[in-house]
Parts: sequence; C-alpha cells; structure tokens
Amino acid sequence: MVLCSNSLVLLKDTLRSAVDRLAAAGVGSPRMNAELLLMFTLACDRAYLFAHPERELSAEEKARYEEALTQRARGVPAQYITGHQEFWGMDLIVSPAVLIPRPETEHVVETALALSLTTNSRIVDVGTGSGCIALALAKELPQAEIHATDISPTALEIARANAALHRLDNRIQFQQTDLLEGVGFEPGTFDLIVSNPPYVGESEEDQVQLEVRKFEPRNAVFAGPTGLEVIERLIPQAHATLKPGGFLVMEISGSIVEDGSEQPPNITRPLL
Ligand SMILES: C[S@@+](CC[C@H](N)C(=O)[O-])C[C@H]1O[C@@H](n2cnc3c(N)ncnc32)[C@H](O)[C@@H]1O
Repeated sequence: MVLCSNSLVLLKDTLRSAVDRLAAAGVGSPRMNAELLLMFTLACDRAYLFAHPERELSAEEKARYEEALTQRARGVPAQYITGHQEFWGMDLIVSPAVLIPRPETEHVVETALALSLTTNSRIVDVGTGSGCIALALAKELPQAEIHATDISPTALEIARANAALHRLDNRIQFQQTDLLEGVGFEPGTFDLIVSNPPYVGESEEDQVQLEVRKFEPRNAVFAGPTGLEVIERLIPQAHATLKPGGFLVMEISGSIVEDGSEQPPNITRPLL
C-alpha cells in the first residue's frame, strides 16, 4: 500500500533543521540566521515564532524558506536575501548594489552631530551607498542642506529609494560623480563633509571576510592596491570644498589610523 502523505511541516521542526543546516554550512550564528529568514518568509516577528511552534507551513512557505536557506548556506548575506538593514533607527532597503550599512558607521553620524554646526549647514556625504549617513543627517538636522554623491548609478537608485521611503527625498540632492567633482561643489562652500569611503587595500584581500569579498560591491570595499587611493584623493578635494573651519568626518580602518603620522588641518581625527 502506498501512503500518499502531504507531509505536515511544523514551524519548530523546520526551524530546528534549518539551524542544523546553516551550522553544517559554516554560517555564523546559525540560530539567529534561521530565525531571521523564517521571520522574513512568514512576514512575522520573533515573538510569533515562539508563540506558534506548532504552526504548519504551507508548501509555498516551505519552498520560499528553502530558497532563502539555500542562498544563506552559500554565503549570501542575510540582508541581501531579506532586502533590509536597520541604520539609525530606520529600516533601509539594501541590494547587492550597495554595501550593507554597518552599525559602526553610526559613529560617523554621532561625530557629525556633535560638531558645532550652524542650523542651515551645507553638508555632503561622499560615497553614499544606501544613503544611510545622508538620511540619518537629514533626519536629525531638518534645516541642513544635504548633498550625497556616489560613483555607482545603481547604488544611487537604492539611496533615492531609501530617501523616498523615509520621506526625505526633498531633503537630499543625489548626484552621480567621482568624489566631489560634481556640479555645486564650489571651493569653500560646505560646512561638513562626511564619508565612509572604500578603504581596504587589494593587498589585504585575503583578510576580508569571504562573504564581503564574494557578495558586497567591490568598488564599495576596495580602494586600490593599498587602500589609501580614494582617501588620498578625497582629502585635498574636501579641504578645497570646505569653508574655513569646516569639518571632514571619515570612517577609515584602524590600520590606516595607526600608519598615519600627519593630519591636515581642519580634518576631524578619523574614526575607528
Ligand atoms: C564603503 S561604501 C559606503 C556606503 C555608505 N556610505 C555606508 O556607509 O554604508 C563606499 C561607497 O563609495 C562609493 N564610491 C567608491 N568610489 C567612489 C568615488 N570615486 N566617488 C564616489 N563614490 C565612490 C561606492 O560606490 C560605495 O557606495
């Protein structure tokens, strides 16, 4: 006799086997990842997962969860699977066109907000990616004039979508350009330049997490052979674009900070 079973798939069992599968694939924090992807699949929160362990998954839900797990097991960052990352209390859209905003980049925003800026300051975020820094500053500084540049047109599409999502699109002027070479960046006209530029050297490539190397945009991470190539061009451009007494706040790596012996005037000590 053949028993034809449309086998029941319970949430708790699915989650348990997903954790095992991600652990076997070498994914860090397998439980957190398995839960996150299940929340994404079921469009629910964590409390729901714990409150409904006996819930049955439909065939369609199971197939979507399976697809998400397959991607995660081959290293795709969870944020590129779900399409979301939180930054400065905002839910941001992310895609493989942009670097996933990192929590430490919030220090750039905190440092900028701690400066003595006038209420209607002119600010530019260079290499905006998802738009995370520009959006946070637009949210916190309602009178400021904010510009954001990126060399990548696909990154700018995501940044614009995020600005629209948070109703800040009328607050930020996005421009595709190389660093500060765009129109409107006349010498001596800005109060603050913020940037999290690419700062990893190609020579350090093997020290970079495999997930970053394989899935995040190369021109967001690597600057050139040494890692200093973008920063070295940005500092003099920023110096020329800033008003006297203006500030440049940059995120750079600890190894660059340790190697740096001199600081140009009016340059805020690099972060991290
Ligand atoms: C490290 S990511 C930072 C993205 C975002 N600001 C963040 O903090 O998550 C660097 C960004 O700089 C952009 N970029 C790289 N070279 C650039 C250049 N020459 N001019 C403008 N943007 C550049 C990349 O496309 C990328 O979006």
